[in-house]
Amino acid sequence: MTTAAALETLASPGTANPEWIWRSGALVPWDEAAVHVNAVGHASVAAVFEGIKAYLAADGQRLLVFRLDDHLRRLTDSARLCRLTLPHTAQELHRAVVELLTANDYRQDAYLRPWAFPGGIIREQMVPADALCEVIVDSWPFRSALDTERGCRAAVSSWLRVGESSMPPRAKAFSNYHNGRLAMMEARENGHDWPVMLNERHKVSEGAGACLALVRDGVVATPSLSSGVLPGITRDTALALLRTQGVPVEEREVDRSELCLADEIFFMGTAWEILPVTTIDGLRVADGTAGAVTRRLSEAYGRLMRGEDDRFPQWITEVPLS
Ligand SMILES: Cc1ncc(COP(=O)(O)O)c(C=O)c1O
Repeated sequence: MTTAAALETLASPGTANPEWIWRSGALVPWDEAAVHVNAVGHASVAAVFEGIKAYLAADGQRLLVFRLDDHLRRLTDSARLCRLTLPHTAQELHRAVVELLTANDYRQDAYLRPWAFPGGIIREQMVPADALCEVIVDSWPFRSALDTERGCRAAVSSWLRVGESSMPPRAKAFSNYHNGRLAMMEARENGHDWPVMLNERHKVSEGAGACLALVRDGVVATPSLSSGVLPGITRDTALALLRTQGVPVEEREVDRSELCLADEIFFMGTAWEILPVTTIDGLRVADGTAGAVTRRLSEAYGRLMRGEDDRFPQWITEVPLS
């Protein structure tokens, strides 16, 4: 079972830049999408984004953007939580994503990153709330790990997940990622692949870029949305799929010690898809391979992404290939 080296799921090595990027209402050639060095809003503390995947359908005829409107709703929520004003409606951004995928003519899985940030020259650290926002939509091909046998070594981090008393954890804001990055580096320095972060109450929160669930005696438990998690769209999808499989699901507070006693643990996220955890804090999880619940879920998730499960049509935006 592969570990860290195979876990960088967002880009295939050597991926060329796309021809087009969407910026402020129009397609722009990639090389012309520049900003001035003093226009720091695109990388500032006040910027929010989304990570969305478009999968090539099993029939090879269409790209299937997964839960596009739910991602755009979360982008709108993140902007509100961070006091940013989006200059485009969710419908306009929906059309932008479809337009961009068509223009770049992807014939493989693609990753999309809509990104909203204060535009123009910014000299104030505390970007004013009325700063004019710009939105871009970036995209690139990626290699899905859906068909890969894999697992990862996880460890509880000494860094706590940002909480309601510091920064809104429900916002997908770039500034929140400093927190997850430190936890990830700590995990790697200590010989693990990914961190598990506890929240301010020292209960399990999430995995710095993915939500988490465990299985014990056939019951799936995942930290509730009040545990400092980003409201994960993959988490929501996984819970829906598990329920259709008749698996009991609990959304509640999860203790750290439950991780050590679990029969299975898995991460859930757009980038990581369904990723089994094989060791936690150095302890093997069951026999150290993906368990039955995780495998069944992962297979169901793969069928859904490839358009082979028609029970959730509201989650799929089809983009026909020309
Ligand atoms: C901090 C954080 N938590 C959880 C997730 C999982 O969310 P989703 O399943 O919507 O990708 C992500 C990924 O976007 C994330 O960045």
